[in-house]
Amino acid sequence: MNQPGLLLLQSKADLAAARPGLAAPVVLVPTMGALHSGHRALLQEAREQAGSAGTVVVSIFVNPLQFRPGEDLDRYPRTLDEDLAMCASEGVRAVFLPSAADMYPGGQPEVTVNPGPAGRVFEGEFRPGFFDGVLTVVLKLFHLIRPDVAVFGEKDAQQLMLVRRMVTDTNLDLTIASVPTVRDADGLATSSRNRYLSAADRALALTLSASLRAGQARAAEGAAAVQAAAEQVLRSEPGVAVDYLAVVDPRTFGPVPPDHIGAALIVTAAKVGATRLIDNMPVLLAGHAGHPAEGLSRDAARH
Ligand code: PAJ
Repeated sequence: MNQPGLLLLQSKADLAAARPGLAAPVVLVPTMGALHSGHRALLQEAREQAGSAGTVVVSIFVNPLQFRPGEDLDRYPRTLDEDLAMCASEGVRAVFLPSAADMYPGGQPEVTVNPGPAGRVFEGEFRPGFFDGVLTVVLKLFHLIRPDVAVFGEKDAQQLMLVRRMVTDTNLDLTIASVPTVRDADGLATSSRNRYLSAADRALALTLSASLRAGQARAAEGAAAVQAAAEQVLRSEPGVAVDYLAVVDPRTFGPVPPDHIGAALIVTAAKVGATRLIDNMPVLLAGHAGHPAEGLSRDAARH
């Protein structure tokens, strides 16, 4: 599994020994492995953020704290050789691959990060404890690796928003950068979990992005029209079991008022067969047709 030029840091001790030799700025891409084109875009952004002098570090850790019993922790895809090859080809300097025992030496930690109210809606409602687990491991990775910049994907928009809030609310001294969602040519957002989909399920999974695009197309008519158009597509397919579909304020994940003008996010999660998928798209809402929301960011998830 060795790749020339790539430092493999298999424990906190390996990391501590190597950290002083990593040239600043240190840019971290936290992942759970099974890397795909979405992760590759993060590695490329990280390489850019690091500049010619800096260092890109990737963590690969399937974090047990963010899986509940009955979820896919045990069968989460693990493709380490391919992951390391991708890291080497994208100019990554070091990969941190700790074991669960090294990250959680006392087992389940007693003190964890509370994601607050915005972490208990949508993904936080359907996966209780999920964001406590995500933020706890992200905070630990930040403390261990001490990056200057960390790069996250807009594919997991609620996670990105909560990481930014954690950084602000607890005065962490680093910058969070984000990368727009990478999609396959047919519109499906790339995801490690797409590997679970049969050909028939993959076709059904396209309903999510199709629904979001249908919503986006009605942006000029306001939030209710966006919601209705997206719902119509999503609910038309009985093979897709919808957890939620909503138009939210990207900064809080609260619902947008019906007359909201400006940046919003359409968020959805659904099960296709046994596979649970999430997706989102930014939308720039206008009060009514022909009333552009001037001066507002084009991309709701980037701010
Ligand atoms: P994972 O699902 O491996 O994702 C790692 C990073 O890749 C996240 O920031 C995610 O948003 C980004 N990503 C995944 N698919 C993407 C796509 N299609 N386009 C753009 N970015 C994409 O998210 C996690 O791991 C974990 O929760 C983690 C943050 C590592 C904590 O355990």
